[in-house]
Amino acid sequence: MLRTHTCGELNKDHIGQSVTLCGWAAKIRDHGGGKFIDLRDRYGLTQVVIDSTAPPEAMAAVEPVRPEWVIKITGEVRVRPAGQDNPKISTGEIEVHVTNFEVLNPCKTPPFVPNQKDLPNEDLRLKHRYLDLRRQAMQDTLVLRSRIIKAMRDYCEKHDFIDVETPILGRSTPEGARDYLVPSRVHNGEFYALPQSPQIYKQIMMVAGYDRYVQVARCFRDEDLRADRQPEFTQLDMEMSFVDSDDIIGMMDGMMKELAKDILDIDLQLPLPRLTYDEAMRRFGHDAPDMRFGVEIVDLTEIAKKTEFRVFRSVADSGNFVRAIVAPNGQSKYSRRGIDELTSFVQENFGAKGLAWFRVEDDGKLNSTIAKNFQPEELAEIAETTGAQPGDLVLIIADTWETSCKALYALRKRIGVDLELYDPSTMHFSWVVEFPMFDKDGETGGWHAMHHPFTAPLESDLELLKTDPAKTRAQAYDLVINGYEAGGGTIRIHDSGVQQQVFGLLGLDEEAAQERFGFLLDALKYGAPPHGGIALGIDRVVMLFGGLENIRDCIAFPKTQKATDMMTEAPNVVETLQLKELGIELASKDDD
Ligand code: AMO
Repeated sequence: MLRTHTCGELNKDHIGQSVTLCGWAAKIRDHGGGKFIDLRDRYGLTQVVIDSTAPPEAMAAVEPVRPEWVIKITGEVRVRPAGQDNPKISTGEIEVHVTNFEVLNPCKTPPFVPNQKDLPNEDLRLKHRYLDLRRQAMQDTLVLRSRIIKAMRDYCEKHDFIDVETPILGRSTPEGARDYLVPSRVHNGEFYALPQSPQIYKQIMMVAGYDRYVQVARCFRDEDLRADRQPEFTQLDMEMSFVDSDDIIGMMDGMMKELAKDILDIDLQLPLPRLTYDEAMRRFGHDAPDMRFGVEIVDLTEIAKKTEFRVFRSVADSGNFVRAIVAPNGQSKYSRRGIDELTSFVQENFGAKGLAWFRVEDDGKLNSTIAKNFQPEELAEIAETTGAQPGDLVLIIADTWETSCKALYALRKRIGVDLELYDPSTMHFSWVVEFPMFDKDGETGGWHAMHHPFTAPLESDLELLKTDPAKTRAQAYDLVINGYEAGGGTIRIHDSGVQQQVFGLLGLDEEAAQERFGFLLDALKYGAPPHGGIALGIDRVVMLFGGLENIRDCIAFPKTQKATDMMTEAPNVVETLQLKELGIELASKDDD
């Protein structure tokens, strides 16, 4: 090594020793008689002093040094003068007095420095990611990520999982996003698809008798990006044989308990709470509710049916819903203008027709511009059903089930933040189970698999596959952390009759199914054990454990919202010759 110690290592025990350190000049201060440099590496900062006691060559060598130059120093560890301690850093009691100073590499004037107060704009950070990754926050996150993955792997190893790699160049896998395709040079006109997940391979590992599979797997999905979505991301992908949903949930409960203890020193109570999909939609309007705070949805449809208030009555009579949430002490935050803003928010983003509201007065009575349309006993019933207290604000959406879910979910999320209804540093883990097998395609009216086409229905719902597919529930489970879907999985179908039925409902006839997944269907006929699995989104888990808001901050080299890499400028135009070898001719842009 070029150094004897790291920049985070020295303390009073090293006083008097001669040491050699290497790192980046984080901060340079001129103090008349000498210079102070904060020398930084991954491990910390050490104060380096070059004063009149240093040899003249060292004084000369330090002269041109600017922030982010790479330097190597040798010197003596001394206690800092009284009053100059820095208790915020581990090396804060000492400094190193330089006897030898060497510039290992100068640095161009950087567009930003890692320790600057204001975060530079994200494009600049992504373009110069090597500088951004020098920031303490980024380094902490990547260390956290590494620790989380290690803890996950250790847990899996303890439970007999075998780590198996599966192909990146493969066939389309069934997660429902668009594929990233890779053209074949050897087979012109044919394409590999990058895996959306290793789903098919891990099922085949079960057929092959490996019993417990795990992989830290890179997945690729060409879909619209959001703060919690990347086109390539990493899963902790797992599969187990001879299990039911409870076994997998139990295994993951154990993993979460260990992770929460190891990483955050939190003691999770097991089993983690479970709610069914129906319950989640009813109580929170979403299948991944943030349960760090209450404010549950209350159904007022039955009351609405009795009132003369046309807006509510017509919605309720036509089979739609009147549902509410209560913003605790909401009047303190939302004036009439504030309520108008909430109204535009639900109208513009979710197509809600409007937002009805009531204030609860000091005497417990409801008041609003619409109050005159209700009998006093109806108002009293709304107050009682919602449980609203003086100072609260009752927010009501009268609309279709879907719109009321979306609008109330978003309102709940918003008031949770606005009214500071929870401590953002707390963590809440839960399961949502029994998802529907299918959802309906708005355009074609056909069925989509809500998870993927190999998901098994609940045994008790097998009959519904024939009679009422919409009501069929799946043996599916999602792990929800702080309102994010952190993982999801299912028990797989291992009965070829049920599989055919499901394919049939999805509009895949035997030939089409054979064409797309023939190899898996064949494998399942050669002695497939009952099996199931789950995948955790590692990037999301790191984001949540790190208390971050954007998945890009948890990935060393992420893509932008437009799926580009600002640093390497991928994707990029390639040589015509490369295309020719692949048998590809580009249509001109106006040919579409
Ligand atoms: P699913 O599609 O639910 O299941 O994905 C599992 C978990 O992966 C994470 N995730 C993502 N993270 C970042 N960016 C994305 N674009 C993205 N998409 C998904 C989420 C999600 O919960 N093969 C099945 C698993 C199984 O059935 O065993 C699968 O991939 O945290």
